[in-house]
Amino acid sequence: MKISIFGLGYVGAVSLACLSRDGHEVIGVDIEPAKLELIKSGKTPVVEEGMVDLMAQVAASGRVTVTTDAQRAVQDSELSLICVGTPSAPNGSQDQGAILRLAVEIGKAIAVKAEPHVLVFRSTLVPGTVEDVLRPIIEEASGKKDGEGFFLCFQPEFLREGSSIRDYDKPPFTVIGANHAYPVERLQALFGHLPCKFLQTSVRSAEMMKYCCNNFHALKITFANETARLCEALGVDPFEVMDLVCQDTQLNISKAYLKPGFAFGGSCLPKDLRATTYLAKIHDLELPMLAGILPSNRQHLDAALNKLLATGKRKIGFIGLSFKTGTDDLRESPLVTLAEQLIGKGVQLSIYDPEVHLASLLGANRSFVEKHLPHIGQMLKAELAQVIAESEVLVLGLADAKVFDVLTEQARPDQVVLDLVNLPNPDRLAATVVGLCW
Ligand SMILES: NC(=O)c1ccc[n+]([C@@H]2O[C@H](COP(=O)([O-])OP(=O)(O)OC[C@H]3O[C@@H](n4cnc5c(N)ncnc54)[C@H](O)[C@@H]3O)[C@@H](O)[C@H]2O)c1
Repeated sequence: MKISIFGLGYVGAVSLACLSRDGHEVIGVDIEPAKLELIKSGKTPVVEEGMVDLMAQVAASGRVTVTTDAQRAVQDSELSLICVGTPSAPNGSQDQGAILRLAVEIGKAIAVKAEPHVLVFRSTLVPGTVEDVLRPIIEEASGKKDGEGFFLCFQPEFLREGSSIRDYDKPPFTVIGANHAYPVERLQALFGHLPCKFLQTSVRSAEMMKYCCNNFHALKITFANETARLCEALGVDPFEVMDLVCQDTQLNISKAYLKPGFAFGGSCLPKDLRATTYLAKIHDLELPMLAGILPSNRQHLDAALNKLLATGKRKIGFIGLSFKTGTDDLRESPLVTLAEQLIGKGVQLSIYDPEVHLASLLGANRSFVEKHLPHIGQMLKAELAQVIAESEVLVLGLADAKVFDVLTEQARPDQVVLDLVNLPNPDRLAATVVGLCW
């Protein structure tokens, strides 16, 4: 394939070297002539393991050319990879100056090009940039439409500096955000041979997931480091602890707990986080990430509260009360806290939870609910149908197929359902279903 690569930093230079090694003809474009001179003479513009030999090899192959002329590069290629820098601006926002200027130039080149051109954005871009910012610029400069005269897509880059050639050849996956089949086919031809999944998604999801991946990496590093600071204060070996933590691939290093949903609660996580942050305090340690978890969880609960209050309705029915489906444990259940807050605002509540029966609640569980919902006896209903019948708004806090079926049959068009569990097929309900944050 004939490919042009814009921006020959870490991402662009490694892509240029690997794509030309794989037999493609590559035109490298950068605004820094010094980088172009290095590439022309078979030298690497970035320090990366394996790049010295690879650049010498691909320069000798005759498949690599370089230019500062963006328009010529678009003319002479069928697909462009855009890898220019998107650094932080002083206020923390993304500085998109380079990519915005480039979009105008590329648009002008597309204006005079006969064949449709594929534009693949590989720079990390804040969600919405490709469709809301770059597309209008390119459409205006080219006088052509996305999906006709050219095809825009976003392919996040996952290589890590220091091992980027190895990461290029063995990425965790290939993700293509695209609105048309043609650019996906072209990218499949370029990257489909790699030993990983080839996934297609929307442009926005592809942009967002790149941020998510980097944020998750940063979160994991900080988690290990805060744990280590606490371990040191307590005289515990942090390597031993984190190694043990990582041995659990069922709950710890797994998909568990990584689905959006309602706030967490229950008899363990909140109290153990509190004890951890108290330990840090008595050892004069700052652990802002761990200390931020409970306040963040509270924000999540408040989001549900605000959505319910915004309906302006006074009769609210809870479907589910315990801290998770299938248990009667009410201790620190976020649904109990939500109910308590609503009662404080004068809302009339009715509650159904198939596992919660007042007569069988004992010990700490009973005293917790009696403290927070002293009139729970009057609110608890034995039948889901009764809660549905007497409510203007329903809070779905229970992920149970039988409950979903009853709700599908009985919810009315005049009702709103606040969905905290990602109800499957919400369109089947006559009621208006509002997701917590989806
Ligand atoms: N470095 C990484 O490991 C890595 C990994 C994944 C994603 N990314 C993302 O990829 C993008 C590029 O990162 P990088 O580290 O390679 O950046 P970099 O700063 O090393 O290189 C960017 C290059 O773009 C060039 N450039 C600027 N304006 C240009 C223009 N109008 N035309 C042509 N070239 C132009 C610059 O001269 C520079 O050589 C960023 O969005 C970054 O967030 C980087």
